[in-house]
Amino acid sequence: MHVTLRQLAVFEAVARNGSFTRAAEELHLSQPAVSMQVKQLEENLGLPLFEQMGKKIYLTEAGRELESYAVRVSQLLDEAEAVLEEMKGVKRGSLNISVATTANYFATRLLAAFSQRNEGVTFSLDVTNRETLIRQLENNERDLVIMGKPPDGHDLDAESFMDNPLVVVAPPEHPLTRKKGIPLSALAGERIVVREAGSGTRIAIERFFAERGIEFAMGMEMSSNEAIKQAVEAGLGLGIASIHTLELELDCGRLAILDVEDFPILRHWYIVQRRGKRLSATAQAFKDFVLAEAPRFVRLPEQYRQSSR
Ligand code: PGA
Repeated sequence: MHVTLRQLAVFEAVARNGSFTRAAEELHLSQPAVSMQVKQLEENLGLPLFEQMGKKIYLTEAGRELESYAVRVSQLLDEAEAVLEEMKGVKRGSLNISVATTANYFATRLLAAFSQRNEGVTFSLDVTNRETLIRQLENNERDLVIMGKPPDGHDLDAESFMDNPLVVVAPPEHPLTRKKGIPLSALAGERIVVREAGSGTRIAIERFFAERGIEFAMGMEMSSNEAIKQAVEAGLGLGIASIHTLELELDCGRLAILDVEDFPILRHWYIVQRRGKRLSATAQAFKDFVLAEAPRFVRLPEQYRQSSR
């Protein structure tokens, strides 16, 4: 069988994306170059691998068979690369990580601190939502992921390294900012601006209220923490957000934390990898660094540092 690794990699990307165009984007190739590689592979094998129905492409039976081999070959190559990199040591490695939207408020500081100590290391950082993070881990696309507690039932190893408290925020002129020990029931009359479905923060908020049998009035739904903070400042409702997103607004007095019963919601940050994945020396060094030192590089709002002492 005459097949090149390049052809297999291109085929695997088309199969996984279900699209020649998306595979071309991912591989930084032109679409005709991708089609050509797949065509040559089909000719070499003497079997069609995809069939087109309308605008969609589907794997043929031969395509499905080949896909499982292509995935294994690509995983083995990744592993070989990691092992060889380990021989080079941390100095010249590359690190491929993804972080949850909220974790990006401190992830870049971690990367900066780590790269100061390991100058030759290069990074690729993806900031995305929880659903995508889990898919990336399952597909073995990233070395490490920083996120809230991953769900059970996936082959993942997760270690917690830092608290992630979620607090209720309001504009400073809101009457509740003057109250202490606000009962949860008082939130029932307020609109709460929340993150999009699929966000870890949103899942935690919904679980928190459901466990206490309290219905909360969901205000607008926003897909970024920045948008939530702007909305709360503009008076569109109260917000619930991770303390890690609030440093600037709390320090400048543009938002205030409310003293609500049972808050903060206590969550934690985890560093996660696919179970059984052999980490490169660089990835292992970064993981050790995060587990040992992350909180030192995270800036919390002044007010929160004082109140949590
Ligand atoms: P996010 O945060 O998905 O809400 O950005 C991550 C998490 O808390 O799990």
